Amino acid sequence: MAEAPDPAALAAVRAHLDAARRVCVLTGAGMSAESGIPTFRDALTGLWSRFDPAQLASEEGFRADPARVWDWYAERRVGVRQAQPHAGHVALAAFGHRRPGVLTLVTQNVDDLHQRAGWPQTIRLHGDILADRWLRPCPRGRACDPARAAAGRPPRCAECGNFVRPGVVWFGEMLPAAALEAADRCAMACDVMLVVGTSGAVWPAAGLASTARRAGAQVAIVNPHESEIDDEAHWVLRGTAAGVLPALLDTLG
Ligand code: OAD
Repeated sequence: MAEAPDPAALAAVRAHLDAARRVCVLTGAGMSAESGIPTFRDALTGLWSRFDPAQLASEEGFRADPARVWDWYAERRVGVRQAQPHAGHVALAAFGHRRPGVLTLVTQNVDDLHQRAGWPQTIRLHGDILADRWLRPCPRGRACDPARAAAGRPPRCAECGNFVRPGVVWFGEMLPAAALEAADRCAMACDVMLVVGTSGAVWPAAGLASTARRAGAQVAIVNPHESEIDDEAHWVLRGTAAGVLPALLDTLG
């Protein structure tokens, strides 16, 4: 693993960012790793090296053992609430504020670290782990708030038994259409696409880099390890989010 990215590549990406009228940033679990939230696919520390996504991240898995899945997400919610944004989250939000209209930030992360760092308009492709929603559409409609469900693991509707589930996208489910459309639009319209901390293993998010490249953008990846979409990038910056993002962005006025 490289300690620091090649200075020439860093300078080149910085120059492209400086000149860009539109910058699209796509983040993945590696963005939150230095805040203490584990990734999914890192060999030793990734969640999917210890847990089975079919059991914990699918509707079938939830229906098979709702208490186990609810408890697993409850534990992850504690970790997310305790985590704090790091210098990379802050650098992105500060860059966005210094250059109004330039930054669109798209994340696969279900935590709220970009939002707490000062970029509430972050587009979430995979939902929000801190949100509750009904497992089935509520037959009584909008007025029936999952926050008022009867306590339990998971909480359930006292009238019809509907379960509450975490507001994340599970395997086999559609991404929120508005978020995906907004992400596609930004990939097609940007001058620079910066991809931070994703393995590029999960679609459709993984396709955004090639969408941007085909539309003419410069594509740069920030990741300490190889990813499945390195070939889509003009620049690969081998380093971590908390190290590379401030080095890239903080000197851009
Ligand atoms: P992965 O766990 O697949 O990949 C994390 C990536 O972050 C790897 O490529 C690591 O090399 C890199 N990485 C690790 N530490 C880093 C650091 N400090 N700075 C920068 N990069 C670092 O996570 P995602 O690509 O986000 O789905 O996974 C995509 C989706 O798969 C997730 O959104 C999740 C999961 O199942 C849902 O939650 C719906």
